[in-house]
Amino acid sequence: MAEPNQHGGNVLEMALKLGIDESTLTDFSANINPLGMPARLREALVEQLALAERYPDPLYRRLHQRLARHHDCPESWILAGNGATELIFDLACLLRHKTVLLLTPGFAEYRRALQWMECLIEDYPLGEQDDFRPDHRLLTALRPGIHCLFLCTPNNPTGQLIEPALLQAIAKRCHELDILLVIDEAFMDFIPDDPGMIPELGRWPHIFVLRSLTKFYAIPGLRLGYLVSSNTPALQQLRSRRPPWTINAFAALAGERVLDDREYQQRTRQWLREEQSYLLGGLGSLPEIKTWRPAANYIFLRCLRQGFDLQTALLNSRLLIRSCGNYPGLTADYYRLAVRGHEDNRRLLDAMKVLFHG
Ligand SMILES: Cc1ncc(COP(=O)(O)O)c(C=O)c1O
Repeated sequence: MAEPNQHGGNVLEMALKLGIDESTLTDFSANINPLGMPARLREALVEQLALAERYPDPLYRRLHQRLARHHDCPESWILAGNGATELIFDLACLLRHKTVLLLTPGFAEYRRALQWMECLIEDYPLGEQDDFRPDHRLLTALRPGIHCLFLCTPNNPTGQLIEPALLQAIAKRCHELDILLVIDEAFMDFIPDDPGMIPELGRWPHIFVLRSLTKFYAIPGLRLGYLVSSNTPALQQLRSRRPPWTINAFAALAGERVLDDREYQQRTRQWLREEQSYLLGGLGSLPEIKTWRPAANYIFLRCLRQGFDLQTALLNSRLLIRSCGNYPGLTADYYRLAVRGHEDNRRLLDAMKVLFHG
């Protein structure tokens, strides 16, 4: 099975490796909203510390009701989990020994979960020549014998959205061929006015949409994600086999409280609009750096200077970016960096200007 420790955000590991204090590193390697968790949530958590003294509702009824209301769908269509990651592993349980198509590069936990269930994994490579975006050729790669396709939109690490018309065509083809379609929308909340695939689920019971609240609401340490599907028998199967109480009471409270925080949502979108454009503009002016226009809160780039280790070079300035060399389908010259607050973004650009302009 693949290594568990292959994500961004592992500041402690890098600090231990360098023999420095982790608090001195600025983390551009995990794509977390730099505004921090909503103030209203912070207050609610502090006020309700006593929740730790009781078991949470094993059915998480209030949380599921709140998520269902948010997406205007029946409660039976929702299954919340300890981050989207837990749900990826739950979904893999439906796929034991099956053949699954994965797009590369993509989020590492799909592969780990599928390997754990001894699935046969087929890779569908996305390349720089297509700007790492799938096109109609993916439709022909979907053939009888494939049981499931995992898609991620916007994709991690490339930040590219799948064209809506192509997504519809993929959904249709998967339906015709009885292929289960998992669509990971972990970063969809960062994209204003894009409802993603959830509104379509009524007519597509073969689709499972994954959502995460950890990135947009800055709660990766609390952990909360959910799965949405109109395939209620499959969700019931998943529900019945999972251990109880995997979502802690504070994460459940977060899910009940954050979804109607319009002020936080607007501030997040405004920050992202401004800082994404600032960072992208700055990176675009650097020689030997190629970027891809991001849909969400992270930027995928390639360093064109032969053999140059950009991650190590930036660590001299105590800036940690994600090296993408361990993604199947990528090489060590690809990197991903999170959009952070203005001061951090400015420091990053300044450090990169020194590296590339001298
Ligand atoms: C594409 C994608 N899906 C799912 C996840 C898992 O999110 P969570 O923190 O909710 O487990 C991540 C985390 O980085 C991700 O990048």
